[in-house]
Amino acid sequence: MAMAARLRLALLLSACLCASVAWARPHLEAGIRLPSERAEAAGESDDSVGTRWAVLIAGSNGYYNYRHQADVCHAYQIMKKGGLKDENIIVFMYDDIAHSPENPRPGVIINHPKGGDVYAGVPKDYTGREVTIDNFFAVLLGNKTAVRGGSGKVVDSGPNDHIFVFYSDHGGPGVLGMPTYPYLYGDDLVNVLKKKHAAGTYKSLVFYLEACESGSIFEGMLPNDINVYATTASNAEESSWGTYCPGEYPEPPPEYDTCLGDLYSIAWMEDSDIHNLRTESLKQQYKLVKDRTSVHNTFNYGSHVMQYGSLDLSDQHLFTYIGSNPANENATFVEDNSLPSFSRAVNQRDADLVYFWQKYRKLAEGSLEKNDARKELLEVMAHRSHVDSSVELIGNLLFGSEDGQKVLKAVRAAGKPLVDDWICLKSMVRVFESQCGSLAQYGMKHMRSFANICNAGIRPEAVSKVAAQACTSIPSNPWSSVHMGFSA
Ligand SMILES: *[C@@H]1O[C@H](CO)[C@@H](O)[C@H](O)[C@H]1NC(C)=O
Ligand SMILES: *[C@@H]1O[C@H](CO)[C@@H](O)[C@H](O)[C@H]1NC(C)=O
Repeated sequence: MAMAARLRLALLLSACLCASVAWARPHLEAGIRLPSERAEAAGESDDSVGTRWAVLIAGSNGYYNYRHQADVCHAYQIMKKGGLKDENIIVFMYDDIAHSPENPRPGVIINHPKGGDVYAGVPKDYTGREVTIDNFFAVLLGNKTAVRGGSGKVVDSGPNDHIFVFYSDHGGPGVLGMPTYPYLYGDDLVNVLKKKHAAGTYKSLVFYLEACESGSIFEGMLPNDINVYATTASNAEESSWGTYCPGEYPEPPPEYDTCLGDLYSIAWMEDSDIHNLRTESLKQQYKLVKDRTSVHNTFNYGSHVMQYGSLDLSDQHLFTYIGSNPANENATFVEDNSLPSFSRAVNQRDADLVYFWQKYRKLAEGSLEKNDARKELLEVMAHRSHVDSSVELIGNLLFGSEDGQKVLKAVRAAGKPLVDDWICLKSMVRVFESQCGSLAQYGMKHMRSFANICNAGIRPEAVSKVAAQACTSIPSNPWSSVHMGFSA
């Protein structure tokens, strides 16, 4: 048991849950619209031909990260009800939740306290160790020969097609998590979108992104002339939020120790669930999601939903990208957000603590399991504290104790990218991890510090010496282990 728990904690899960889904090459006729659906908004007149594609990706594994895979499963159900075909929906999820021994409802995943199963029918295109950035990029670019494992499905799109991408997970400034290493960096993602545009294989693309500091992926990076419209759960410098967490309201059923969803994700999805998306524009959804995610502009908790890229695309209807559930055909869009708000939510980065704490709290006093759960919780805390203090010390050694933290935490002006030299940023991360151990999911929050060290013109080689001084050894903590490789 202790061993199993430790393995889980260390993100050691390597079981390949590969499952192939037979698929056929999509016909160009797929996704044709009825005459009555045409030209509903300015600029949409050419959308009567073309296929709708969706790429859905959850960037983590582990039961304590339940909510991200739950979001992605829910998104699949929306695409499916909207009329997209399985051959045009590509799902990346580690797939270790539904059949996890910790799942109180085996084989079922929910994304709302009272919600039904969202797992049934989800195609297992890329699961387990196949959820890699290389596969994600190959799928986006439609490059079948570059794909390793999985169903082999790719976005085999043409110039009239519309693509929808949804990512949900943890992130940090300039970076998005993955269940495998390396993580996904903002410059690489934007370069892939540029490449896809240059190949002429889409008409327009919408990217919905849930992660901490997700604005930093596109800020100063995403051009406004490649027909990509993106919205993000947060701006470049704040956390995004988990929701339906234990102890919050509304809370999950008592048998769940984990958060069921993410605030921005469920905001766009619960909106899409009930509206006629033939009449709701991307802009209308953006405003509604922005309002709900900011808790009606109070920001007691919650974050600033942002938009980037070709903002003119936001006049289009959601239908162009994700179809619409025929059952909602008479539901008219109302500006006024009638959806319930949340009284509380949990900061994305602390959601794992909620899980480890809940688990510990519930177990019987004196039991072996409680002892294991206590150890898990302490290891999570110890890793956090090790990463925080190492980065702080490096900052002080580089810039002096007076200025160190000011330099590391400085936020660049809006519109400027996080870092000028992304290669430097990635080298900096490798230098840190080789001396101080893995950043892991939590440590992504320090990406801005590494970016600022690069922006100050300090080379990774110089930081290597300082990091060796700051970290005399890598702690023997599963979270700190670099056995999976570097995150950059
Ligand atoms: C597809 O991927 C392969 C293998 O990585 C690469 O050699 C090839 O150039 C790629 N094709 C295109 C069109 O980018
Ligand atoms: C929408 O309204 C029309 C006209 O009243 C009706 O015929 C149709 O069944 C309704 N559709 C749904 C899904 O309720």
